[in-house]
Parts: sequence; C-alpha cells; structure tokens
Amino acid sequence: MKQSVKMIVGNWKMNGESTGAKEFERLAARLIEDPCRVDVAICPPATLVERFARMGGPAGIGIGGQDCHPEPRGAYTGSISAELLFEAGCAFVIVGHSERRQLCAETDAIVSAKADAAIRAGLAPIICVGETLAEREAGEAVAVVRQQILGSLSDRLAGREWALAYEPVWAIGTGRTPTLEQVAEIHAAAREAMTERLGDCARHTPILYGGSVNVDNAREILAVENVGGALVGGASLKAEDFIAIIHAAELALVAAGAQG
Ligand code: 13P
Repeated sequence: MKQSVKMIVGNWKMNGESTGAKEFERLAARLIEDPCRVDVAICPPATLVERFARMGGPAGIGIGGQDCHPEPRGAYTGSISAELLFEAGCAFVIVGHSERRQLCAETDAIVSAKADAAIRAGLAPIICVGETLAEREAGEAVAVVRQQILGSLSDRLAGREWALAYEPVWAIGTGRTPTLEQVAEIHAAAREAMTERLGDCARHTPILYGGSVNVDNAREILAVENVGGALVGGASLKAEDFIAIIHAAELALVAAGAQG
C-alpha cells in the first residue's frame, strides 16, 4: 500500500461459484509468469478466501474480505469477524461498501467500528464512501463524501495501513462513470478530509476509485491526481479483463514516473 504503487483490488461480491476458481487460477498463473509492479488483491466471497489465499500467495495476490463484524467473536449468526478473516489468510477487508450501507443500513459509526476491528485483527481496511445520484444532482457530492469520511474514520487508523475507496453509488454496475474532473475534485476533497481527520499521516494513504472501471477507462482514471488505484467489481471476475486493468495501472505508473 505505497503511494508510489497503484493498488488494483477486485471485489467479487456474491459471485464466483463453479467457474470462479478457474478464473482465479488463470489470474495467478499470469502474474507468476509476468509479475507486475502494482499491488493486486481479490476480495472473494468468504467461502473462497482460504483457498484463494493458498493459490494466490505465490503470485503475490493479496486476499481480502468483503465485510467484517465489529466484534471479535460471539453470538452473531451469519457474521464473520476480522480475526476469522485474518486467520483464513486475508490481508485486507472492505468496509462500508455502499451495497452494505444501503441494504444493511450501515451508518458511518458502524463502518468506523468495522474499520477499527480490522486494525485490531491486523487487516488493512478499505473504507468505502460515495454519493448517490440524487446527492450528485443536488450538488452535494463533495459535502456527502466529506461527511462520510469524517464519520467513518477513527483515530485508530493513524499511522496504520488502510485505504479509502471513492465509489459513487450511481457508477456502480451501471457503465456510467464521473468525468475525470469530477474524479479529481472528489479525490482532492477526500484527501483534505482524511488529513483533517488524521493529520499528515493520511497524505500517502491510497485513495482508490471504484464504479464501472473497465479495460477501456482504467488508464485515464488511474492517471488522475490522488487516484491511488481502483476497486473493480464486474470487470474483476474475468481474469483477462482484470489483467488488462492491471496493465493499465502499470502504464499509468510509467506515465507518472516520466512526468515526475
Ligand atoms: P463495478 O465495477 O461492477 O461497477 O462495481 C464497483 C464496486 O462496487 C466495487 O466495489
């Protein structure tokens, strides 16, 4: 999770039955054959975590959970703790994804408690924020994202490994993406809110963009200032597409190096 390295994370959501392991195997084989300069991670459904952690290790693919419970253990049927994810081989966990904020009524306070749980267990949380279409159209995108950041980050993150992911709700799974100017505006505002909340240590924390990232748009999005990587949904399910996005990230890094 270094600022100088792009981070490409695949969020498989509730997908991957039957053919998933084959795609993952293909991805791992390609990365062993042709190692890349970006940090690559996959967040599969919990049932695949242990298997993918074993298969992905030699290829350098980090494995993440898609959610965790704030408590380390207890009578919480159906939930998974950050500690269990860690023991299964995870290095990351996504918290506060908009699908959970919306479908499970997760508030900023709950998201913050989950991020704390991740730190407690030794995982790097990927904390998601993003405005709805109505909020964007009302001109409230910056204010909403800022508020979510201030409410979802706790002091425990200071000096730790973690990442923010900006995912506009209206861009998820729709094929629509913000303009590059809009991405730049939100990522700059996010950086400001993160440093306001945690101080200078948040200057180098990666901020990922997520929402309809694909083979065609990845390179230009990843070249935007303050975009430290991508959180990829649909396009992470096919190894070929995901590899093309990884290559786009490498090209963005080379271009940034040439400029700097
Ligand atoms: P899509 O890439 O399918 O739009 O999903 C984005 C996302 O929600 C990743 O967490």
